[in-house]
Amino acid sequence: MEDQAERLREIMRQRGTGQDTGEGKAKAKAARAGDAALQPPARAGKTRVITITSGKGGVGKTNVSVNMALAYARLGKKVVVMDADLGLANVNIMLNMVPKFTLYDMIRKNKPMKEIMVETDYGISIVAGASGFSQIANLTDKERQNFIKELDTLSFADIIIIDTSAGVSSNVLDFIAAADDAVIVTTPEPTAITDAYGIIKIIASESRYEALDMDLKLVVNRVKSAVEAKKVADRMTHIAGQFLNLKVDYLGFIYDDSVVSQAVIRQRPFMVIDPRCKASICVQHIVGKMEKREPKQTKGFASMLKRLFGKAE
Ligand SMILES: Nc1ncnc2c1ncn2[C@@H]1O[C@H](COP(=O)(O)OP(=O)(O)OP(=O)(O)O)[C@@H](O)[C@H]1O
Ligand SMILES: [Mg+2]
Repeated sequence: MEDQAERLREIMRQRGTGQDTGEGKAKAKAARAGDAALQPPARAGKTRVITITSGKGGVGKTNVSVNMALAYARLGKKVVVMDADLGLANVNIMLNMVPKFTLYDMIRKNKPMKEIMVETDYGISIVAGASGFSQIANLTDKERQNFIKELDTLSFADIIIIDTSAGVSSNVLDFIAAADDAVIVTTPEPTAITDAYGIIKIIASESRYEALDMDLKLVVNRVKSAVEAKKVADRMTHIAGQFLNLKVDYLGFIYDDSVVSQAVIRQRPFMVIDPRCKASICVQHIVGKMEKREPKQTKGFASMLKRLFGKAE
């Protein structure tokens, strides 16, 4: 599998070199033509990058991110959760941790990634986002170079889970483009479904996603029954397929479970509070399904550029 951390780094590079410009398109074309000069150094990477997003806020992204990370850790994977959510209910609060440093310190104050990344008591590491992510678009060349270099530190991970803020910002779209898997979380509430459809529509209309060859994955959270979840998923996959020509893969559901809200109040993951509660079992199913659906094998640098720039013809 292509190294996804490299793709993240590439995105950061493009931030500084005119992404979506003719230059990018020419590069993609040249790469497809087999221009050896554009080949990146060979890497033995295997990191899978999973972006968790939603249309509406408060539907459970951070809970899904953290508890999926724990479910992966139980399978023996090295996992990093990167917090790209600028909202209040972020990863470190959910884990009752006060990060000494955030990505802001890395970007603006040259703090190395290893000083920002914190190991938790739960066998996963976290990288706190704070306001750093909102500024990626405005980085100086030097700051961007440093960011790219520091991203290397995360290549030890088997899994990087990026918890994004709700809705669409260009950073969220960048992270979706860089990811192997974009997981959209919704609840059965009509407003959440409408907003989830909204974000899927934006992703579908982004030119660079046209050639992504990447399935969006759907998690329906806070359901009362599997039947309720299936109805929501069927509706969304049908509409996305029919009107947007986009495949949305139904990954699974999570029951509405009082253990989740108790866990949030106690600032501990529900997978830790009760690994056998309904929500925990569901999350483990979801991760099991992810494991069965490894991302499609990508075909090197040309394919990566295609992912970033869309159809370059
Ligand atoms: N499966 C569930 N069962 C019960 N309550 C849940 C469930 N999932 C989420 N919640 C409740 O919803 C709240 C919001 O969850 P969470 O913070 O994970 O959402 P979010 O999408 O990350 O929000 P934001 O958009 O603000 O970042 C939690 O505090 C919890 O009380
Ligand atoms: Mg959140």
